[in-house]
Amino acid sequence: MDFYAVLGHPIAHSLSPQIHQAFAQTLGLSLSYEALDVAPEQFAATLQRLHATGYRGLNITLPHKQAAATLCESRSNAAERAGAVNTLIRTDAGWRGDNTDGTGLLRDLKDNLKLVITDQRVLLLGAGGAARGILKPLLDEPPKELVISSRTPWAVEKIAAEFKTLGPVRPCTHLALKGDTYDLIINATSAGHQGQVPRLPPGLLAPNGACYDLSYGRAFEPFGAWAQTQGAARIADGWGMLVEQAAASFELWHGVRPQTAAVLAQLQKKV
Ligand code: ATR
Repeated sequence: MDFYAVLGHPIAHSLSPQIHQAFAQTLGLSLSYEALDVAPEQFAATLQRLHATGYRGLNITLPHKQAAATLCESRSNAAERAGAVNTLIRTDAGWRGDNTDGTGLLRDLKDNLKLVITDQRVLLLGAGGAARGILKPLLDEPPKELVISSRTPWAVEKIAAEFKTLGPVRPCTHLALKGDTYDLIINATSAGHQGQVPRLPPGLLAPNGACYDLSYGRAFEPFGAWAQTQGAARIADGWGMLVEQAAASFELWHGVRPQTAAVLAQLQKKV
């Protein structure tokens, strides 16, 4: 039996064990996948212990994604750019860090939701780790323009300067967006976790425009409601991204990409 786990704090809410067991079942694999609640001060020692006891792969969630990036012995380009790791792959020397959030989002947007990003005007809300993790794959499409916006000008200016060689990215504050329109608005802020939505000027959505939130469940509700008031033609939460980033981690560990549609449908039905 191969051992896997997701590490976070808190972790009781995590659906990763269910998702990975469902993938394994569809492929006839047998594995152990636990959710481990690990306090920040225990994180480094826990990574060492799980390596010593033979774990083959780990998922990392809040608040450890940045710490994991500093503790692994090597990193993929995606992890390096994001400065955050959500997947650890066992090596002889320790852990290799990767970040599958960007891949997960793009698969959900394009494959599941059939949304087009190429040549579209995209607005990305938020300047934290979540926004950083998805910028490169979005710019790869490439959009006509990607505006990254937050309340704090310096935060978006810094990210835009870092990513500007990769595509047409422009920094902005939420208030200065007034008068612009976008085909796709992606919420990568953590405002929903406080029951809030970023304060945005009205009229930002182009006709037929879509809204996507990286959050799901309760945390999605404020942005989902805002999108409705703005007349969004399509509104989606982050369940699809959650399942797709898990599938991308699964593929890194097992070398095979699981089918996601049935697992996503099962999850949506349950919640
Ligand atoms: P993560 O690493 O998950 O992205 P984070 O680093 O805390 O989380 O980043 C959260 C982002 O959400 C930040 O860009 C923050 O915006 P500011 O740069 O404007 O501070 C944004 N955010 C958090 N709470 C918010 C709120 N109530 N309204 C608007 N934006 C908020």
